[in-house]
Order: sequence, then structure tokens, then C-alpha cells
Amino acid sequence: MDQKDEIKQKLDIVDVVGSYVPLKKSGRNYKSVCPFHSEKTPSFMVSPELQIYKCFGCGVSGDIYSFVQEIEGVDFSRAIEILAERAGVKLIRRVPDTQAEIRKNIYRINELSTKFYNYLLLEHKSGKKALSYLTKDRKLKKETIKEFLIGYAPDNWDSLYKYLASKGIKDLDMVASGVVIKKQRGEGFIDKFRGRIVFPLTSVDKKVVGFTGRTVLDRKPKYLNTSETPVFHKTSFLFGLDKNRVNIKKEGTVFVEGQMDLISAWQEGIKNLVTVSGTSLTDNQLRILSRYTKDVTFSFDSDFAGVTASLRAIELAEKQGFNIKIAIVPEPHKDLDELIHADLSLAKKVLKDAVGAYDFFLVTALKRNNKKTALGKKKIMEELIPVFSKITNQVVLDHYIKEVSSELNLSLETAFSMFKKGSVEKDRDYEFIEESDQIFPVDKRKPEAHFVALLLKVPIDIAKEQATKLEPKDFLSDQVRSIFEKALPYIKGRKTDINIKSLLNKLDEDDQKLVSDLFLWDIEGLDEDKKVILEKDLEGTVQRIKMDATKRELSDLTEKIKLAEKESDTKELESLTKRFEKLSKGLI
Ligand code: GTP
Ligand code: MN
Repeated sequence: MDQKDEIKQKLDIVDVVGSYVPLKKSGRNYKSVCPFHSEKTPSFMVSPELQIYKCFGCGVSGDIYSFVQEIEGVDFSRAIEILAERAGVKLIRRVPDTQAEIRKNIYRINELSTKFYNYLLLEHKSGKKALSYLTKDRKLKKETIKEFLIGYAPDNWDSLYKYLASKGIKDLDMVASGVVIKKQRGEGFIDKFRGRIVFPLTSVDKKVVGFTGRTVLDRKPKYLNTSETPVFHKTSFLFGLDKNRVNIKKEGTVFVEGQMDLISAWQEGIKNLVTVSGTSLTDNQLRILSRYTKDVTFSFDSDFAGVTASLRAIELAEKQGFNIKIAIVPEPHKDLDELIHADLSLAKKVLKDAVGAYDFFLVTALKRNNKKTALGKKKIMEELIPVFSKITNQVVLDHYIKEVSSELNLSLETAFSMFKKGSVEKDRDYEFIEESDQIFPVDKRKPEAHFVALLLKVPIDIAKEQATKLEPKDFLSDQVRSIFEKALPYIKGRKTDINIKSLLNKLDEDDQKLVSDLFLWDIEGLDEDKKVILEKDLEGTVQRIKMDATKRELSDLTEKIKLAEKESDTKELESLTKRFEKLSKGLI
């Protein structure tokens, strides 16, 4: 047994997952709201027997290793370290796997690239223009450039490629790291970043995981980011956390919308900012952030464009219990970066005087519209409903309902019902999208899948009794039929309840996947004291399947009878009719 398995044996997935999210027992499984996407009703299931988890909302699934990778935003080798510590297992050596090797190579390539770009910016003539842009136009000091390891990717097709090749790096590794891409036409490779100022993306353990490049040639896109690689997961990466996390712990954080804002602020001593690269703020990033602080100020540019786009981020942060404030960069300054260089003390004041998120929305809506007119009131409500209907805390919601109704001179009931309605409609849409069928290969709501799910969970005598009522031909789905055929002898031969692991051993890979999904599926009423409901449900489901099968056979018979009549095959007709009559009796 290798160490990976040893650690897995010593730990229970219920404890591991349970240390991040509160788990509630549900039958033989545990459930919670999913930590990887936003939802209100729990569809995240954990099975102690199978030592796996699965979210029926967003589809993520896996074991303790993938869970830790995902939730901590780390790679496999880090995940195994975290879990080894938890299990009290001393790692003798890195798990020898090619993935670890690939990651090691990527880190090395990123480091070499960082040095290459940084050298060109600071020392080489090809970086001259970019350097003067950074120091003169953007007012960055050389120390800041050095601290953030900012560099310049020259406007050539393959200067980095050639450099890395000269260091003995293999083409495939370069492509894996994302700094080099395959030519779209023809053979060969080209640099991803060309004619761009390059910002290395550094993780909290001080490794360069990727890059962001800003054009200095007015090309599109203005910003370009490393795509997903084995070491760069943009949805869990936070830019600036490596440098600012100590202050963030002390002072709370300010979320800004650009690397340049963060770097300028850092240069001027404002050292508690974070930002993201190539994504909008995700649940996962917020979760990582919440380990450092629960206070976040969202700083928006003066053009306001960001506000609506960031509503989702604010909503996510609210759900995770952050204390949210909003700071707006005042006109005529475009963004925090500009404001910092124009008036540092004003910039500090703006961040310090940030107001609570909901007060902010209320004040802006009131400022922008005339609350005295009916049309103005309507517009104000239209602006506020999407925001206020998302408030989950009742006390906070109550406060703003009163506030709004008094400002607009509306009745409490009107304000209340409008905010409520907003939320109900939105939720319904949302859950509809979440219940995507493609995650489930066989429609879980169809009786055949439901049958398997129930069968796996009822006491063995009930399972025997109900399963023997059905025959393989009763199933419409080929996959469920084949599972049934393999499970039936197993069930018949058992004296104790189904052991899901030993059952899975009898199935091939695709069927294993479906059966373990169905095993994790959280069935309504699946509670220890609600076993009876489960049994009734199973009985009903079996009847339903039987009836569907009978109906299919009847319609099949009808066709055959028609044919026999046409061909005047009396003997055949007689036997078919007999069968038809027998079957129809069973239906009543
Ligand atoms: P400067 O113009 O250099 O000051 O950058 P900025 O940070 O002020 O840029 P802007 O306000 O236009 O955009 C804010 C952030 O959005 C940037 O820092 C990028 O992270 C991102 N962004 C902007 N334009 C693009 C783009 O074309 N592609 C991608 N992927 N991200 C972009
Ligand atoms: Mn800017």
C-alpha cells in the first residue's frame, strides 16, 4: 500500500469534508450545501461507505484528495501533504507520479520565464519603452517592479521559446505551463505573451503559477492571462494574497478590479488589497479569503460599470457571511490607481469611509432618481429589488424594508412583497438551471433509476422481496437492466444489508459510476425513522415499472394482433389475444 492509500485509510471523508462545511446525516450519507457553487438547498452528498462526495447541483465529485485540492486551491502534492499531516502520516517521499513531475517542470519554466521577462524589462534595450511606460506614465518605482517581479515580453514570435529551449526545456512542458502555445497553422510553437508587460501570478507559498500580460501596443485583448494549468486554477487564485495576507488578517481586505490598482496601492503603503486574474470573484476565492478575514470592501471604478457585474460577487460574499462595504472612486479619477497617484490621502480616505453595501445601493438609487414621482419610485425599486431580494439575513432585510418604505413613502407590505417576489422568482430560475440532467446519465426522476436508488438503501429482506417482483425485460433503460441483472443474484444471496462497495465490485466502470451516484442521491424522507416511507416508495416504484412494462407489452401486442388479423393467422391471433387479456387484467 502506498502512502496515498495509507492516508486515505486513516482518514474519514466525513471528518475531512466536515472540517470545511457542516454536514448533516441523511440516511447512510451526509449532506450539505455545496461549497463549490452557490445554492440554497443542499445537493452536496458525502458517503462514508464509499469515501466519496458528489454535488448533484454542479457535478463536482471525488475523494479526499480532490476535495482538498479544490477547496484549498492547491495541487495534488500539496493536498497529500495537508492530509498526511492530518492523518499523522510522515511522508517518506513524494508520491512518484507523472503529475507531480509535470508540476515541478511548470514551476521551473515559470521561474525561468519570470527572470527572462524581468531581465528584459529592467536591463535590455527591447524593454526600454515598456520600462519608461511603467515608470513615467504609471509611476511605478524600480523597487516595486523588482518586488512584483514585473517583466516585459518582447514583440517577437518566439524569444521566450528560444530561451527556454536553450535551457533544455521540452516543447511539451512549455505548452503545459501556458507560456508557449502551439501554432494554429503549421508546425512549431510561439510565445503566448508578446508586446506585453507581464505580471507573474504568485501563490501564497511564493511560487509563480502563471502570468497576466498587459499590452503596451494597444492590442486586444488589453489583458491576457495564463489559461488553466496543473498549477494555475484561476477560480481559486487571488492576486496579492502572497504579499498582503498578513495585513489582510489585521485590517480586512479591499477587493479591487485590477492588478495595477493593487500594485500602485502597495507601492504607496496600502497593503491589504486583493484582486483576481481572468475571472470574476468566485465562491472558492471568497472561501480562501475568509480564512484571513471576514471584512471585505469592494472598490469600484468611478464609471460604475463594475457595480452590476459585481452584484454576484457581493451576493456570494453575503452568503458566506462577510461584512461587506463598498467604496467608489470619486470622479474625475477613473480608478484607484489614478486616484492614488493624484491624491493619496483622498484614496486612503475613500477606502476608510467605505459604506455598508446595502446603504450604498440605497443612497445611489435615491441619488439617481427622483423619489417624489411615481416613475422615479418605480425606477428606484427596479434598481433595488435585484440587490435587496438577495439578502438572506432576516434582520438586515427587515431593516431595509423599513428604510425603503419610509424613503419612498410606500407601505411596508408593498416593499416587503416586492423584495420577496424578487427573490422567489430568481431562486426558481436558479434552481432550475442547477438541476441539470446531463450530470445524471439516467434521469433520476424516472422510476427505473429511482428503483435502484431505493433498492440500495432498504433493509435486505425488503430489497429481496421487491427486486424479485421484476424481471430484466421490465426495464426500458439498457444500463439499469444490466445493473439489475448483476445485482439481483447478489441481493438474493445476501443475509445482511447491501454492502455498496462489494456490489460496486461486481459492476463495470460506467455502471459503477451510475450506481454510486444513485447511492449518493438524497432521497426525500430518507431518515432512519422514515424507513417505512422508503419501503412504500420502493413498492410503489416497482409497481410503476411493472405497469410501464406491461403497457409497453400491450402496445406491442396490439401491433402484433393487427398484423395477425391482416394475415388471417387465427392461431397466432388466438394466442396473442389470450396474452393481451391476461395482461390487461393485471393492469386493473
Ligand atoms: P490599466 O488600463 O492598465 O490601468 O488597467 P486597469 O486595471 O485599470 O484595467 P481595466 O479597468 O480596463 O480592467 C480591470 C481589470 O479587468 C484588469 O486589471 C484585468 O484584470 C481585467 N481586464 C481588463 N481588460 C481585459 C481583457 O481584455 N481581458 C481580460 N482577460 N481581462 C481584462
Ligand atoms: Mn487603470
